[in-house]
Amino acid sequence: MAHFADKKRTLQDQRLEYPLKMMHAYPRGITGWGAHTMTGEEAKNLGIKNAFIVTTGLRGTGIIEELQGILKHAGVESSVYDNVTGNPKDHEVMEGYKKLSEGEYDGLVSVGGGSSTDCCKGIRLVDGHDGENIRTFEGAFKATKPNKIPHLALNTTSGTGAEASCFSIINQTDELYKMAIFDPNCTPTLSLNDPILHQCMNGDIAAYTGMDALTHAVEALASRLKVQAAYGPGLWAIGQIFDNLRESSSNRNNDQAIEQMVWAEYAAGVSFNSAGLGIVHSMAHVLGGRYDSPHGLCNAIGLVDVCRYNLRACPDRFRMMAEAAHINVVGLTDYKAGEKFIEAVEELRCELGIRKNFRDLGLKNEDLDMCAQGVLNDICTEGNPQDVSLEDARKMFLKCSGEDIDFGSR
Ligand SMILES: [Fe+2]
Repeated sequence: MAHFADKKRTLQDQRLEYPLKMMHAYPRGITGWGAHTMTGEEAKNLGIKNAFIVTTGLRGTGIIEELQGILKHAGVESSVYDNVTGNPKDHEVMEGYKKLSEGEYDGLVSVGGGSSTDCCKGIRLVDGHDGENIRTFEGAFKATKPNKIPHLALNTTSGTGAEASCFSIINQTDELYKMAIFDPNCTPTLSLNDPILHQCMNGDIAAYTGMDALTHAVEALASRLKVQAAYGPGLWAIGQIFDNLRESSSNRNNDQAIEQMVWAEYAAGVSFNSAGLGIVHSMAHVLGGRYDSPHGLCNAIGLVDVCRYNLRACPDRFRMMAEAAHINVVGLTDYKAGEKFIEAVEELRCELGIRKNFRDLGLKNEDLDMCAQGVLNDICTEGNPQDVSLEDARKMFLKCSGEDIDFGSR
């Protein structure tokens, strides 16, 4: 038997990247038709008597009114904070916390997509630290005190994964970038996914958010963190997205396709919660922070070019993704199989009618250097399987703007 000291030396000599893998907890979840009606009983079971509801513009759709009725029926009072905007801002988190602290609230309920959920996570974090500025939590594991109240996350979009993750992404509005906050204290207490709420999205939003879910799964699979226990849900999500996203975005009455997309977005969220992401998300964070661009659309635009950039770094995992997408890759090398997968993603994006590029989202030439630096600063870049230089980040913004860019051999 090899001596332990020799074995240890061998491991050190191999200079393993990220030798220790972490699986991060995701919340208890309830998924299925009618899940939203559980909110009242679940809130009551968590001891909530007065809930603070955090949402975007959903008041008037009937969803918030119904939810307040469900809570009331379970004996839970509630008030609504609905000043949250897409790409939620730091000042919205602090305003939400101020309103929360002015009442006698003992629980948080977020209703909406990633913006509502992430803002609510921020409010809970600030509340746990007696009003400390949300900006102090930028980065990983910055919380020093436990949360004071529970958070029920009622998700309404089939893309975000925020209800299943410990990430919160908040715009830093002085310097116009997105802060990534990665902290177990951001994990909701309970996630609820009801397909009937997802069905309220229109087809375009369903397409953009579905491509966000695909990006979560692809980046988690390709990530240099190599958290293999997170591959299962990611691969399953890829298969479901290829099977159902076209139909669910074009026919909002197809209950089966919509339900499968709900499961896919949730599974992809579970996958990236531990395996991390890559520069598709770094670029989306830069564009969302600087130009308020829609997150899902940014990812839909960036995914194909970044996959081509990353393919050489992990062709074996791109082969797994091709197989998960039911592409016949028998007899092909891993690299060729990966190319087939990327072509299929490009085809899917075209069929969804997504033809915009980063210029259409507001990208300006004079901002390119700042945007490239923003990618290098973003926490998601750490997971990208291919090393990214400042020059390559700059080129990638141009490539995703429709320019003919050659990255050379890497
Ligand atoms: Fe995302």
